[in-house]
Amino acid sequence: MTTPPADPVSVLVYHPDEAEAYARLIRVPSDRRVDLHVCATETDAAAVIGDVQVAYAWKPPAVLYGKARRLTWLQAMGAGVDWALIPQLPSRVVITRAPGIFGPWMSEYVLGWCSWVTQKTEVYRAAQRERRWIDTVLPGRLRGKTLTLVGVGDIGREIARVARAVGMHVLGVSRSGVRVPAVEHVYRPGHLARALAAADFVVVVVPLTKKTRGLIDEAALRAMRPGAWLLNIGRGAVVDEAALLTALQERRIAGAILDVFPTEPLPADHPLWSLDNVVITPHVAGPSTAEEIAPVFNDNLARWLRGRPLQHVVDRARGY
Ligand code: OXD
Repeated sequence: MTTPPADPVSVLVYHPDEAEAYARLIRVPSDRRVDLHVCATETDAAAVIGDVQVAYAWKPPAVLYGKARRLTWLQAMGAGVDWALIPQLPSRVVITRAPGIFGPWMSEYVLGWCSWVTQKTEVYRAAQRERRWIDTVLPGRLRGKTLTLVGVGDIGREIARVARAVGMHVLGVSRSGVRVPAVEHVYRPGHLARALAAADFVVVVVPLTKKTRGLIDEAALRAMRPGAWLLNIGRGAVVDEAALLTALQERRIAGAILDVFPTEPLPADHPLWSLDNVVITPHVAGPSTAEEIAPVFNDNLARWLRGRPLQHVVDRARGY
């Protein structure tokens, strides 16, 4: 418990497209006064940032941090916080995440695309366009297939739960190797190749940190089976993009479902666009919505106003 901040408290709501929607759902305890600054541009935010104590934000321009003299807490509106873990953000600023929200979205994305593979969706759609009845081709099952999660945090665990529910075997890889529910075996990074070699589907869902950048490199891709699919829903830079491109072009793995990329938007002339064994989605596997994130922020705001410890605090040294 620390001394509660004095009124009025100054909060910046920053989102380039939906700042108003996020601001509308903020609930302030009736006995407190909070001044909300709702900003969608750097210019607007720069005018108030010197006064702001709390930021409820999605990727504010880093240049603002240097002017944020009074800022003590940043609530991230998205799943990842790598954009906030930069030297420009003063170390006194506590960063909080929004767990529990993205796992349900991302598990549907993962199971949906795994089913797209096993149900041979493209084959039937192509036959339909040609009015061909291809009853010699049968769909496959997810049941009995192995899904390896590279990352078993709150999102990975939800994916594991859903994958188990349809009868998949689930393996995991994590820094600690500690057991988690619904995952049959959690490997430490030293045994990454073993976990990848067992998989029909590899799902990359680790945060981007110094340790995970480039983790799925050429050796990791070579450890995968020729029939396996890679799904990246974490961060583009966790996968060595050049090595992936070669593995896909040489068909050393069956294909990739990619939602995240080192450069976003993926440039129009990027070779990944034209590969027939790649599905590209535009970083939509786990969308943020004001409705889902508001309860997390409102709960933490009430705590912060009372001088109580915040929930879901990011460990800056660990990077998530
Ligand atoms: C993210 C998100 O952090 O989309 O990538 O929320």
